[in-house]
Amino acid sequence: MMDLIQEITQLLDVAIPELKKEEIIELIEIPARVEMGDYAFPCFRLAKIYRKAPVKIAQEIVQKIPASKGIKKVEAVSGYINFFMNPAPFVTQVLINVLEQKEKYGSSTIGKGKNIVIDYSAPNIAKPFHIGHLRSTVIGNALYHIHKFLGYHCVGINHLGDWGTQFGKLIVAYKNWGSKKEIEEKGIPELNRLYVKFHSEAEENPELDDEARNWFTKMEQGDQEALDLWKWFKEISLKEFERVYHLLDVSFDSYAGESFYNDKMEPIIQELREKNLLEKSEGAEIVDLSEENMPPCLITKKDGSTLYATRDITAAIYRKKTYDFSRCIYITALEQNLHFAQWFKVIEKMGYDWYSQLVHVPFGMVSMETGKLSTRKGNVILLEDILNEAIEKTKEIIEEKNPELEDKEEIAKAVGIGAIVFNDLYNNRIKDVIFSWDKMLNFDGETGPYVQYTHARACSVLKKSGLEAQEYKDLSFELLDDEASIQVCKVLEGFPKVIQEAANKLEPSLISRRIMDLAQSFNKFYHECPILTAEEETKKARVALVKAVQVVLCSGLGLLGIHAPERM
Ligand code: ARG
Repeated sequence: MMDLIQEITQLLDVAIPELKKEEIIELIEIPARVEMGDYAFPCFRLAKIYRKAPVKIAQEIVQKIPASKGIKKVEAVSGYINFFMNPAPFVTQVLINVLEQKEKYGSSTIGKGKNIVIDYSAPNIAKPFHIGHLRSTVIGNALYHIHKFLGYHCVGINHLGDWGTQFGKLIVAYKNWGSKKEIEEKGIPELNRLYVKFHSEAEENPELDDEARNWFTKMEQGDQEALDLWKWFKEISLKEFERVYHLLDVSFDSYAGESFYNDKMEPIIQELREKNLLEKSEGAEIVDLSEENMPPCLITKKDGSTLYATRDITAAIYRKKTYDFSRCIYITALEQNLHFAQWFKVIEKMGYDWYSQLVHVPFGMVSMETGKLSTRKGNVILLEDILNEAIEKTKEIIEEKNPELEDKEEIAKAVGIGAIVFNDLYNNRIKDVIFSWDKMLNFDGETGPYVQYTHARACSVLKKSGLEAQEYKDLSFELLDDEASIQVCKVLEGFPKVIQEAANKLEPSLISRRIMDLAQSFNKFYHECPILTAEEETKKARVALVKAVQVVLCSGLGLLGIHAPERM
């Protein structure tokens, strides 16, 4: 309510010449309870200047404040000056803003001309796409949409874990105990089984480790057989990953994974050497970070092979050259904090001043309510199974609540997936997520389905009203003077600022919280204010408010990567 704050500041500035405008703005507060007004100005600071009790000062200042357009009432209470806004101009302005801009409401051009690289999802080839990668995928996808909405040019990169010594192990395991048929049939679970078997066998027989190292060296040297096998493992894995991305409706601008940097690392290692940053340590090469109180960053192993960090350093330099990013953000579990801190430091030591544009966005774990998730394919919990289960469960709920619904399949998909995504994005990302079917699929709880249901409810009111396409400019918004309507407008009004905050803090939960507020305050309005049966002018104004809510719920959900069905 920026305009209102300005109006209040203006009034106080005249009444209190002893304070500067900036000082006044800083002191203005939002009271904890509505009875105390929309804004309050504490007079305690003035006690020294006027040598009077704050209670008295507040009373005297109130006398000096003239009537003003945006203010309905000014009161002095216990040393505070409480301002009550005049709802009509506020409500009118907010609703016209939303209805004029529609799905663009809250968007901006602050990111114009700036490139943002977002590194997210990044599952590992031949390993299950697990629930931790879901978090990275969902948070990254939301940050992508949010930045795009603010005018940034986004580059979404899936930095696949498709290179490293583990592929040597997998080749050995495949050659010893694998079958082509089994892998083609079962896909990743079978590849994972082979990988696990390798580890248990190698405990008895350490020679297997040497064999695996040899195979990886062959891969790095371009051996055809090794590369063909690796490529095949990758194709099998990608097919499964794609199914998950399709369900989640997530896509990427680039699939340049770790293997992409295979032929790009040598010059970077050379550069590290020339910059005197590399040290030998037991045959390996490291960058010492003891001054920074961190363990060394490993660049090459003693057999000359490269590591995860080597590829990240190379990738960052490549991305800076290719995309000239103003920020490059990496979304991973917080277990990788040290890894990122280490190699960011290496970039800084290399003399690249853009090291400060690299941002690690860590998130907490997903804890399961054990025993409740199905594991159809062996003992690994596959994300794809979870997503499909969400859709199935939603179908059952729809079957029970609204068996006549058309397009049940489509809607169950939007709601089931939406439930999982919303649950993931509802808390500060650093907090652990608790995975509970009952909670996240509760249509009356603080859930995705609740917000989606509210959106569908708004759509249905609009349809029934027959006023969906009405002109809104000359409506009598002053009729929306009840608490519930005003509250809805307050929540709407703050939406644009929340989006910018979500981008600054890289925190999509700010948006999920805001649309939850909006859904809740809308439902209060819906129960308290008759819409379709109201007198004509009131009906029109209320329908316009419904439209504004529908638009913002839809774009809020969209920013989180969640669909907003019109019926449920
Ligand atoms: N593949 C990694 C993992 O599963 C995540 C990669 C994140 N991105 C990066 N540039 N390091 O843990």
